[in-house]
Amino acid sequence: MKTVPFSYDKLKKIISEFPTPFYIYDEKAIRENVRDLMKAFSWNGGYHQYFAVKSTPNPSILKIFKEEGCGVDCTSLTELILADLCGFSKEEIMFTSNVTPSNEYVLAKNLGAIINLDDTTHIDFLNNCAGIPEIICCRLNLGEDIKYQDKVVINFRSSKFGSTQDQIYDGFGYLQELGVNRFGIHTQFGAHKRDADYFGNNSRKVFRFVIDLYNNTGIKVDFINLAGGLGIPFLPDDSPANIEAISYSIKKAYDETIVAAGLDPISLFTELGIYMTGPYGYFVSSVLHVKKTYKNFLGLDASTNSFMSPARYNDYYHITVMGNENEACNCVYDVTGALCEDRDRFAVNRLLPYTKEGNILVFHDAGAYTYSHSYNFNGKLRPAELLLCTDGSVKMIRRAETPEDYFATLKF
Ligand SMILES: Cc1ncc(COP(=O)(O)O)c(C=O)c1O
Repeated sequence: MKTVPFSYDKLKKIISEFPTPFYIYDEKAIRENVRDLMKAFSWNGGYHQYFAVKSTPNPSILKIFKEEGCGVDCTSLTELILADLCGFSKEEIMFTSNVTPSNEYVLAKNLGAIINLDDTTHIDFLNNCAGIPEIICCRLNLGEDIKYQDKVVINFRSSKFGSTQDQIYDGFGYLQELGVNRFGIHTQFGAHKRDADYFGNNSRKVFRFVIDLYNNTGIKVDFINLAGGLGIPFLPDDSPANIEAISYSIKKAYDETIVAAGLDPISLFTELGIYMTGPYGYFVSSVLHVKKTYKNFLGLDASTNSFMSPARYNDYYHITVMGNENEACNCVYDVTGALCEDRDRFAVNRLLPYTKEGNILVFHDAGAYTYSHSYNFNGKLRPAELLLCTDGSVKMIRRAETPEDYFATLKF
């Protein structure tokens, strides 16, 4: 059973001040979750979580993570600027980019961020534009299929990310000659996974590579960045990831490899995104029109330009029709927006309670990769973002776009 962190009356009050559509994030739940994560990984003295800015790039969200002791994982110039403006500095910033332009390397270097090189052939490029920092990380591509229950979830041989094992052996040697004295290894093997064994088994492969790297080059890494990929339960019957069990599984792999090889301590990092905010954000929209043709349509006051994940990934995003939570779900609807695109659907053939114009719909699990994927097709404007603060108050943390915003980049 999915619940919302506000009553119907409270939501109506919020809407009287901030009209739909909007995103609203639950600060209390975000803080509780990050504290549980830190506790679960406390066995690793150097553990650090870098919040993947791309998932929810809002200063108020970033500041919550800063207060909770996290860093940020940035991918672009603007994400670096955002991190800087939110007070993150030096090694609190991980710069995990790819196909990186020189101005981004220059800013990352100036901020003292940890540069995570996607491609070891960029070493000279980095040296020429920004210089080589003392600490550097390289992104490993294991070159094999990552499987889950016999199904290939990532085919690393065709992935555009990372460098091969041999490239990293050579690259690290070269970087050492250029003055690097602290190294890290990064790899992302997860993709919406919640199974403890999955994380244990794949971490073990990375840990073994770190041992091989040491045996081949004499370089012992300072940290291993296991990146993101920890999933959330979208379906009402899905169970959430057991973070204690996942951490234990990674610890077991660490003990049996890194500790056994005498390489302990090595700090573990993560760059989790969706796990940190996904379940704690809601998209709220009102029913503008109800249409009946060959199907029943609920037309919202928002379109999927504002919340494209259901249309893009065909994911199930649970919907609560506020005030009707206890009614039987015996009506089938397609929930649509106003775009001139037939796939502009938040839900297809969804069983919901009987719903009328004016009803308020709350989409669950909308706290990551939602606003950050929004766009302006059809000249449709992006919605506001709100924060439901720990004390129960609500503040706007990003206003809705206006036509002036849309026209701001145009030259007439
Ligand atoms: C390099 C890197 N780090 C971290 C993340 C965050 O992943 P997630 O939101 O699945 O935790 C991503 C996701 O695209 C990524 O590409």
